[in-house]
Amino acid sequence: MQKRMMITGAGSGLGREIALRWAREGWQLALADVNEQGLAETLKLVRTAGGDGFTMRCDVRDYSQLTAVAQACEERLGGLDVLVNNAGVAAGGFFDDLSLEDWDWQLSINLMGVIKGCKAFLPLLLKSQGKIINIASMAALMQGPAMSNYNVAKAGVVALSESLLAELKSEKVDVHVVCPSFFQTNLLDSFRGPTPAMKQQVGKLLEGSPITAVDIADYIYQEVDKGAFMILPHEEGRMAWKIKQQNPEVIYDQMAQMAGRMRSKLSAS
Ligand SMILES: NC(=O)c1ccc[n+]([C@@H]2O[C@H](COP(=O)([O-])OP(=O)(O)OC[C@H]3O[C@@H](n4cnc5c(N)ncnc54)[C@H](O)[C@@H]3O)[C@@H](O)[C@H]2O)c1
Repeated sequence: MQKRMMITGAGSGLGREIALRWAREGWQLALADVNEQGLAETLKLVRTAGGDGFTMRCDVRDYSQLTAVAQACEERLGGLDVLVNNAGVAAGGFFDDLSLEDWDWQLSINLMGVIKGCKAFLPLLLKSQGKIINIASMAALMQGPAMSNYNVAKAGVVALSESLLAELKSEKVDVHVVCPSFFQTNLLDSFRGPTPAMKQQVGKLLEGSPITAVDIADYIYQEVDKGAFMILPHEEGRMAWKIKQQNPEVIYDQMAQMAGRMRSKLSAS
């Protein structure tokens, strides 16, 4: 039987490239997003790449929409082998400037969206002894300045993944968590933050990546195949994480210096 994967945020960026990487292996894809036009384009590309599947509008904030996708996977694909919780939005701003609404919005998509995804699809994954791939970020591990709401959401995704890794081992459901550094996608379109200058700074970081969403999807494919739990696609991310584990003070100092530079730039702009 053909293998089956469901991806949230599949209408753009990394979600689309993950769909195409697995499509090349002939997988059936359930593609979910709030962006229906993007989804239609992804499905077209999936078919050209050698896969097939269906699209469904789904806002990950709404649990009933996720359970509807799970039901569609059961009815149309006969179940599910891999769940990819990828949908996400960008955020920035110093803690003193972020509103509680900024926090609610960020956590409802980037953290609660992943929790709800795991909850909605777990019954299918328990049946198939499948896999969960959660897309977090290096922000979960390094806590860069002026993005505390994003950092907390993504750190929550890593903590959830570690919890599920332990709980689901005996049930033969594998768990993987991916922590990329910045890379170029449409993520900036979703940016929410108190100052436009912050959006520009995030834009520069996205542009500076030495690797693309295509490279990252391929790296994830290989690492999942090897059974790796924590997947860090960027070389500099792997190095920084090693340093932080050995000597966190080095990273705290770097982050404090970076925050100082960002504050001066913002007050000058
Ligand atoms: N681009 C980066 O630099 C970067 C770095 C680390 C982690 N990530 C993570 O990678 C994931 C994919 O982001 P991307 O960079 O491909 O960005 P993207 O904006 O190109 O794709 C994200 C997709 O998620 C969808 N989405 C947003 N809110 C949603 C919701 N409520 N329900 C359903 N779908 C929703 C968007 O419509 C979009 O199609 C995100 O979780 C992001 O946080 C990105």
